Amino acid sequence: METVASGIRPTGNLHLGNYFGAVKNFLRMQEEYNCYFFIADYHSLTTHPTPGDLHGNVRQVLAEYLGAGMDPEKATIYIQSDLPEVAELTLLLNMNAYIGELERTTSFKEKVRSNPDNVNAGLLTYPVLMASDILIHQANKVPVGKDQEQNLEMTRKFANRFNRMYQKDFFTIPEPFNYGEALVKIPGLDGSGKMGKSEGNGIYLVDTPKEIRKKVMRAVTDSGPTEMNSPVTEAVANLFTLMSVVSQPETLAYFKEQYNNCNIRYGDLKKQLAEDIVSFTEPIRDKINTISSDEAYLKKVVDMGKEKAHASASKTLREVREIIGFKPF
Ligand code: TRP
Repeated sequence: METVASGIRPTGNLHLGNYFGAVKNFLRMQEEYNCYFFIADYHSLTTHPTPGDLHGNVRQVLAEYLGAGMDPEKATIYIQSDLPEVAELTLLLNMNAYIGELERTTSFKEKVRSNPDNVNAGLLTYPVLMASDILIHQANKVPVGKDQEQNLEMTRKFANRFNRMYQKDFFTIPEPFNYGEALVKIPGLDGSGKMGKSEGNGIYLVDTPKEIRKKVMRAVTDSGPTEMNSPVTEAVANLFTLMSVVSQPETLAYFKEQYNNCNIRYGDLKKQLAEDIVSFTEPIRDKINTISSDEAYLKKVVDMGKEKAHASASKTLREVREIIGFKPF
């Protein structure tokens, strides 16, 4: 069976855009592949060297993914820093990663620009750490969004370089992976763009029904259609898109028809949308909250993940050390 590796940055809560995007893919992949999913807490130190609550963030992200359906019986779910083999492989791969190519990566240049006071070596070698995450499990597939394509390209480069240098077809060269059919892009509530793009335009899985209703009722609309079948503005189209993922098809059809014959009342549309989002998210939210207050369960998941990840990682690292030429006395 093919192996998938993917890291999750422990930043922020999951919103509906994440749920219908990355999470949906994870849930499908865990059914079909040998998956390694981990919380990338080492990586988070590159931009937040003194995070307010590193453990709390990792814990919350873990609880949210588990609550959303990620299954520790199906996938290996672990915390990156529980796998020190990754740090050792990073050190070894660093010997053969060039400063010039690391400095040229888009994300490094962006971080330098946005945060000139914290251009640390960890930031520069971010792609090497990411390569280790992937290569340590000999993964053949990595689900990556646009922003991570270059990092994966670097992983492939490092793996090929290692194989060439030691003249051994050792590392599996990972491929970028996505399920062919396009996911619905979930828009935010502020009239334009994706959910999560700007502050306050997102509905989070952990939002209470009250918060959800309040946010939806404040969503941007327009002054309403003025003639039959008027073109739909982006703000209103966004509400229809949200409806298309959480509501019954008849509900969506009804409001579209109301729009087309100019009878629509945005207040009613929003009320319905809010209730449908509440019903959709309720069981997920309950599960997140249950998991998040179950210390013993979280510990069990993390311990199990660590053990499974360690089995795979230690095998790779043993072989790498041997190939490089380290020998026991
Ligand atoms: N860099 C990824 C991100 O910012 C997270 C990540 C770390 C990752 N290691 C990985 C993704 C390995 C895929 C594979 O989203």
